[in-house]
Amino acid sequence: MNPPAVPLRKRVAILISGRGSNMSALIEAARQPGYPAQIVGVISNRADAEGLKTAQNLGLSTTVHSLKDYPDKTATDEAITRTLESWDVDMVCLAGFMRILSAEFTLAWQGRLMNIHPSLLPKFKGTDTHRRAIEAGEKTHGCTVHFVVPELDAGPVIAQSSVPVLPGDTPETLAQRVLSAEHRLYPQALKQVLAHADTGELQLAG
Ligand code: GAR
Repeated sequence: MNPPAVPLRKRVAILISGRGSNMSALIEAARQPGYPAQIVGVISNRADAEGLKTAQNLGLSTTVHSLKDYPDKTATDEAITRTLESWDVDMVCLAGFMRILSAEFTLAWQGRLMNIHPSLLPKFKGTDTHRRAIEAGEKTHGCTVHFVVPELDAGPVIAQSSVPVLPGDTPETLAQRVLSAEHRLYPQALKQVLAHADTGELQLAG
């Protein structure tokens, strides 16, 4: 009798620019038995990204592709694609990757490129989301995992998580509350996408 088939885990790369706490949450999730992804490498656009050291300490492959090392954005993004292809990647997760990728890149990876954003999209696209949410008098804020399309923070929503905005919140206290929600949401959303990757039956939020 043949042994039961073990489902293949999808090969996931993570793109970061800094601290890499969402990257760490994804790596931790992927270490759990039965999680449908393995993290095969981390790419940063900054050589000094703190998350690179974390990834290296965990034995992951890392590479830096910085705009300043290439003639232009297209060439930089082509170098990122070459690395992703050399790792035979099925899915790419942006995790605090703070550079806007070229339309060519996002179109080439469309449906296989996800991002986490610290707001309840379509509210507060772009940066400085926590301060803007407080100033707008929002009672609820949160985070969104979405597919990436050429237009910034505008791709189909995969999953969202809400947190309250509390009296006296500063952008920093609110950011911390949202970040904890991000660390739970991103691994769940990746799992949800990969569970449906072969059937194309993913039910998107929103
Ligand atoms: C996270 O809050 C993430 O949502 C945000 O940057 C932070 C990165 O933290 N991303 C964006 O603003 C993308 N537009 P991390 O490096 O600790 O994961």
